[in-house]
Amino acid sequence: MGNNLLKGKRGIIFGALNDMSIAWKVAEMAKEEGATFTLSNTHVACRMGEVVNLAKKTDSELIPADATNVEDLENVFKKSMEVLGGKIDFVLHSIGMSLNVRKKRVYHDLDYNYLQKTLDISAISFHKMLQVAFKLDAFNEWASVLALSYVAAQRTLYGYNDMADAKALLESIARSFGYILGREKKVRVNTISQSPTITTAGSGVKGFDGLMDFADRMSPLGNANAEDCARYCMVMFSDYTRKVTMQNLYHDGGFSSMGMSMRAMKQYNKSFDTGDVDDMY
Ligand SMILES: NC(=O)c1ccc[n+]([C@@H]2O[C@H](COP(=O)([O-])OP(=O)(O)OC[C@H]3O[C@@H](n4cnc5c(N)ncnc54)[C@H](O)[C@@H]3O)[C@@H](O)[C@H]2O)c1
Repeated sequence: MGNNLLKGKRGIIFGALNDMSIAWKVAEMAKEEGATFTLSNTHVACRMGEVVNLAKKTDSELIPADATNVEDLENVFKKSMEVLGGKIDFVLHSIGMSLNVRKKRVYHDLDYNYLQKTLDISAISFHKMLQVAFKLDAFNEWASVLALSYVAAQRTLYGYNDMADAKALLESIARSFGYILGREKKVRVNTISQSPTITTAGSGVKGFDGLMDFADRMSPLGNANAEDCARYCMVMFSDYTRKVTMQNLYHDGGFSSMGMSMRAMKQYNKSFDTGDVDDMY
């Protein structure tokens, strides 16, 4: 049962692939909270993917778009305003992909064509979305736009590869465009920096299981999962956060403020066979 946090709001949710996707949970919860929205994903995902079921379940129109293609994005915004019957109140950018990660090219041996694609799909697509919406005057005042990021934008994490650079760019775009959209249209733009989460994109990261476990041990509240992230998105799309903009908001159980935790230290010490550490803070 929702709390009508998004009652009467119209949105666009990009990036729901399957029921593990963060965007999938956001769509389910946005429906519960009273929003109407359209869904968008790649042409292939919309033709043969599970997102078709999500569209049925949430009574949403599915509008295919390659998020790197400006014409496709124009179509998503125009069609969304048409089927939803007005301008847009919230957008979720939940898109990420690296061919270097997929093809196991390490950071000191990047394929630069792949790097261009990583940056285009995972970060510049966010600029394209915002620019398209700005030019079409597609946002209502106090609309809220979110993109999902990761702490590798600030800190080096083994195996995250060129996605770290993409996330740094994504967060920068949120600030730069957030200024313009705030000034001109009273629209909020933020990124949520999410804990490692088991999804199709997440599982592609090298050593993902170890990373999940490490982050969980390091975080006083434990990792935030996809449902937790969806709940945070609801608050950020709601009218309760109208003056929050141009921020990278950590949603990670406290990970980003930690250096070392007792739980992580205990596990680390096991590898030296030195026995337990004291239970101290
Ligand atoms: N899973 C994690 O550990 C984690 C942690 C922090 C942030 N994130 C971020 O959350 C977001 C969502 O990822 P997820 O973990 O839910 O995985 P996911 O694989 O379910 O979602 C990624 C989505 O990107 C879409 N996509 C890829 N190329 C596209 C293109 N050219 N045009 C349009 N869509 C395209 C995919 O079809 C898919 O729906 C990503 O930005 C990811 O980097 C994930």
